[in-house]
Amino acid sequence: MGVSFAHDPSYTGFNAPTRFDAHVADCEVEGEIPSDLHGTFYRMQCDFAYPPPEGDWLFNGDGHLSMFRFADGHCAYRGRYILTDRLMAERAARKRLWGVYRNHYTDDPSVAGVNRSAANTHMYLHAGKFLTLKEDSRPVIVDPHTLDFVESDYDFGGQYTAVSMSAHPKIDPVTGEMICYGYQAKGDLTDDVAVYTFNAAGEKTHEVWFKAPYVGIMHDCALTQEHIVIPLVPMVTSEERLRAGLRMWEWDGSYPTMCAVIPRNGEAGDVRWFEGPARSTLHFLNAATESDRVVMDLPTSNGTGDPSQFRRWTFDLNSRDDRFEEEVVFAESNGLLSRMDDRFLSLPYRYAWSTNTDRSRPWDAERTGRPQGGSNVVQRLDVRENRMDTYFVGDTYALQEPTFAPRVGSTEEGDGYFLVVASNYAEFRSELKIVDAMSMEERATVILPFRLRSGTHGNWMPHSQLPFSDA
Ligand SMILES: [Fe+2]
Repeated sequence: MGVSFAHDPSYTGFNAPTRFDAHVADCEVEGEIPSDLHGTFYRMQCDFAYPPPEGDWLFNGDGHLSMFRFADGHCAYRGRYILTDRLMAERAARKRLWGVYRNHYTDDPSVAGVNRSAANTHMYLHAGKFLTLKEDSRPVIVDPHTLDFVESDYDFGGQYTAVSMSAHPKIDPVTGEMICYGYQAKGDLTDDVAVYTFNAAGEKTHEVWFKAPYVGIMHDCALTQEHIVIPLVPMVTSEERLRAGLRMWEWDGSYPTMCAVIPRNGEAGDVRWFEGPARSTLHFLNAATESDRVVMDLPTSNGTGDPSQFRRWTFDLNSRDDRFEEEVVFAESNGLLSRMDDRFLSLPYRYAWSTNTDRSRPWDAERTGRPQGGSNVVQRLDVRENRMDTYFVGDTYALQEPTFAPRVGSTEEGDGYFLVVASNYAEFRSELKIVDAMSMEERATVILPFRLRSGTHGNWMPHSQLPFSDA
């Protein structure tokens, strides 16, 4: 029987897997791409090559990497599946072999010993290596120019012994260090956490192992110049759950949110766990160490299904009860993903950009053939002035995660553009919107003559960091 996704409406229409690689040498553009936008925007999508089993999760698809290259007011596009061990095994078998999300009991027996990374979440360039990431595995290395697969299960030349690495490492813009970590670091369901620091040359300079208070998701972290914060939130799992054939995570609000606050050069005994109410949150923004307290900003909600707000958590290093405080910074910002000018990561900062759904905006149900849904605005949150400015994409679109790209030669925070993939339901195609990050005015639209799926994360790599001669 041939490949078919038709049995499941979640994999049809605009959200059908794309299933092809693409190259557009010089994309069609509306408006003017700024000439001081010079570099590469990468973004990832989970793009199922084969139909997943019932009960799977949308984050268990194959990594498909998009590359938009900007030079001289033009944009070239390349999109490719990452030829992971996992995808190649499935192509050889002509069917899906991995079971539901992160549950090896549901895998086909033939994949025992095959690297399981789908490389479908995020990408970073550090010390000359282009890392594509999935938090249940070590990195998959890809060529940043051709997007060719290079190597799976990358262990940094023997320096990284944890069996998994989060898809959200942080790169210190001051030192060029990469701080990365793995949880379930000794294998599925283990409570071990391993945090590593690699210097700009890729040499390990610090490593610390410690235990988590329970086995839950530790998807992202935040960085200050003195501390690392790794939250543990109540998406939990168990051996019983996996043996029952269920995907790894389920929300259980009876657990607290726990946050590990780790001195950058600390040992296991220096790790402080702070406890707070159950919060449904996966992504964090910026943080700061302010003498004897650490503060962290993030979009979060009280529980699954509750509206998100932009909030600040404070960890008092002198506290005796080890509880963290929470305050609402922007009550009306309901996004789940915020991004910043990463040149200011771990440093005093002012701006965050966050996609949101504003139902007061118009929606063209006739041209799109669907009810309003998805994100239609990007909000710029000014955390210093407590001010919000908004970009509205139009009445036929849904937006994905915005990524900030600095203007060539800029040094001021926010002096540049944000890039955001938009699903144009009226034209049944994807477009990349280039928006001035200060005025919030749209400057250009890169038109793809096809549709991308919903993306996970993206990153900008300036030409000065990753030069290229052609696209
Ligand atoms: Fe993520």
